[in-house]
Amino acid sequence: MSQTPGDGKHRAQWASSLGFILAAAGSAVGLGNIWKFPGKAYNGGGASFIIIYIIIVAVIGTTAMLAEFVIGRNTQKNAVGAFRQLNKKFSWVGGLGVFTGFLIFGYYSQVGGWVIYYIVSYIVCPGRIFADPKLFFYEMLGQNGFPWLGAIICPLIFMGLVIFVITKGVEVGIEKINKILMPSLFVLLIILTIRSVTLPGAAEGLHYLLTPDFSKLNFNTVLMALGQAFFSLSLGMGIMVTYGSYLKKEENLVKNVGLICTLDTIVALMAGFMIIPAVFATGVEPGMGGGFAFVSLAGVFEKMPGGPIFGCMFYLLLFFAALTSAISIMEGTVAYVTEEKKMSRKKATAIIGVLTFIIGIFYTLSQLYASIKGIWFDFANGVTFPAFGDFLEFLTDRLLTPLGSLTFCIFVGWVWTTKKGIAEVERDGTYTFKLKKIWSVLVKFIAPLAILTILIGGMVFGLALS
Ligand code: TRP
Repeated sequence: MSQTPGDGKHRAQWASSLGFILAAAGSAVGLGNIWKFPGKAYNGGGASFIIIYIIIVAVIGTTAMLAEFVIGRNTQKNAVGAFRQLNKKFSWVGGLGVFTGFLIFGYYSQVGGWVIYYIVSYIVCPGRIFADPKLFFYEMLGQNGFPWLGAIICPLIFMGLVIFVITKGVEVGIEKINKILMPSLFVLLIILTIRSVTLPGAAEGLHYLLTPDFSKLNFNTVLMALGQAFFSLSLGMGIMVTYGSYLKKEENLVKNVGLICTLDTIVALMAGFMIIPAVFATGVEPGMGGGFAFVSLAGVFEKMPGGPIFGCMFYLLLFFAALTSAISIMEGTVAYVTEEKKMSRKKATAIIGVLTFIIGIFYTLSQLYASIKGIWFDFANGVTFPAFGDFLEFLTDRLLTPLGSLTFCIFVGWVWTTKKGIAEVERDGTYTFKLKKIWSVLVKFIAPLAILTILIGGMVFGLALS
């Protein structure tokens, strides 16, 4: 049963069903759930946004995830190899996913490095953070010089950890670390949520999260919920193709999709219940932009009894979430390079690591220049170019991942055909896929249409999906 890690010769396989579920949930639960979701829920009107988000995950998210799993498990290949085997004309779709992973991994490991910096700082010098949270953040980004800590040392530590796990392989590395980190993440999340909702004054935040205000719901909010759902479920990059390819043939795919989507959504909701009541209770200005997790939350921890300890726990939680997601993003590209380019796992991780690290450094530098030192590019008198960091996020979150998911759904729905997809789920009669008719309609029509709406809406409404 046990096989060598995916070294290009033997196919790796998850050792247990639980291991796979935790690894896939580990991929899904990331910065998106804990850092992005609460801010969006807040801006999107609280309860009404949450209701729309849940409907989207339940209808479109599950559909698209199953599409990725059936491709992966059927071919037992990485994203590019899978398409090459099923229909050569579509291998660019897998290639696009691998490329997107490359870009996301660059900035994800920078933010992961910042999180490590904050875990240590909340232990060593919480007073300095509380004294001036913005200054502390900007200093990390290199206000007084080159950001050695923010852009080089901390991201290197984060990436080193990811590479360490990846080189250990699928079973011994990825599966094992998720089995430890995911339960720890849940424990931290429960402690922090209880702390938040029991703060005096938290009731107002709870009320905001529980009372729908449909007047705040508009086309923009729905688009925001759609984009968030795809990012949060790790869809559109072929990562779920790769993770699905390590699955045993006897696994029940539909049940697994349900569990992973449920776990991901529970974590996002809990993160909302952890952050929003605390923000209301402490009266902190809830600026929910990019610096929120690093700047605004310092105000919350400062006013909370036991703040530094809970602060440290919060960044530890963010760290676990970011690490397991980053591992999945890198595995997507590593699986491609080892299998298609016949390279060893060690060599593949080293090359990908170096290249993505270079992209990542530019991300932090662009944050530095865009927000502190002025503009990033200024070509002759006032022609400013968007910061590289914003451009990178725009490209990956708003453009490439929805495009990836759209093509996966169209491929399964129309090219490979839902008949083969359903057969893969049913495994020649081992399971009965009760919702097969509904899934066929969803994967052929509803999901592609909804994704097209995000793509076009994202272009038209610009920042609406950030
Ligand atoms: N889902 C992760 C989060 O919520 C991020 C992530 C991991 C991701 N793998 C992905 C996003 C693949 C898009 C595609 O933070």
